[in-house]
Amino acid sequence: MYKIRKAEKLTSNIYSMVVEAPRVAEHCLPGQFIIAKMDEEGERIPLTICDYDREEGTITIVFQPIGASTEKFATLKTGDAFEDFVGPLGRPSELCTDDLEEVKKLKLLFVAGGVGTAPVYPQVKWLHEHGIDADVIVGAKTKDLIILEKEMEAVAGNLYITTDDGSYGRSGLVTKVIEDLVAEGKQYDRCIAIGPMIMMKFACLTTKKLNIPTIVSMNPIMVDGTGMCGACRVAVGDEIKFACVDGPEFDGHLIDFNVAMKRQAMYKTEEGQALLKLRE
Ligand code: NAD
Ligand code: FES
Repeated sequence: MYKIRKAEKLTSNIYSMVVEAPRVAEHCLPGQFIIAKMDEEGERIPLTICDYDREEGTITIVFQPIGASTEKFATLKTGDAFEDFVGPLGRPSELCTDDLEEVKKLKLLFVAGGVGTAPVYPQVKWLHEHGIDADVIVGAKTKDLIILEKEMEAVAGNLYITTDDGSYGRSGLVTKVIEDLVAEGKQYDRCIAIGPMIMMKFACLTTKKLNIPTIVSMNPIMVDGTGMCGACRVAVGDEIKFACVDGPEFDGHLIDFNVAMKRQAMYKTEEGQALLKLRE
């Protein structure tokens, strides 16, 4: 069993849990994910690692209930435990495995949308710990939905917060901030955009126009996370990849987001039915 050392509600619909999983904490790197299962019959849920503490042997996960299983996860309290907590899975972020001296030469821009702030955080933290301070844009619908602001502030070179309704920070979508920063004279060699699929699609259209190579995380289309169900098949240029074993990060300019979003929608009906059953 994997004990939850701390369970916390970050916003009205986003939860954070620090889970005791020493073997995962010992080996994981930013960009990788875990699969959590609440009990024997529970569904396997892939979640990107938000933080890890090798000394404490803990992993932090952040999630938003979007189906029956994640809604059940949200009922877990400090002291409860997951039946299974497997990882680290997937490939670590390239920035954390490439030649550090080469990465140091890059001007990096991270774009985090909503819950996607969670997988962005460990990458920015890792880079900061290795002497690289990246610019970070965090976008949320409203002020109340911004997560990890203090944590991100401590590790980002410059942090730009924006809300769709203008209730905090800059006003407008993350794509507007990308364009504004470039118009203000900022230059970037690489962008890493992680958030809802629609945000990643439009972030990529924006960075393509601005000629900034961009990496995205296809975590949202994963189902079982093991390479067996085939749900996370994604066309990357001419190649077919599996997000859970070949990714989750890919060259965003090569992804066909419309196909990927259709694939994601295919599971919505099943998720919705399971959620209704849970609430009956
Ligand atoms: P959200 O809908 O509140 O959007 C967050 C921000 O993304 C917005 O504030 C806006 O700045 C930007 N955005 C949204 N639509 C946009 C558009 N059309 N053009 C440009 N920018 C746009 O985000 P949320 O509700 O927190 O997101 C939940 C989703 O995040 C889930 O569906 C989940 O699949 C996804 N998610 C993705 C990852 C990943 O690894 N890619 C990780 C965690 C969660
Ligand atoms: Fe099932 Fe990748 S999530 S094959």
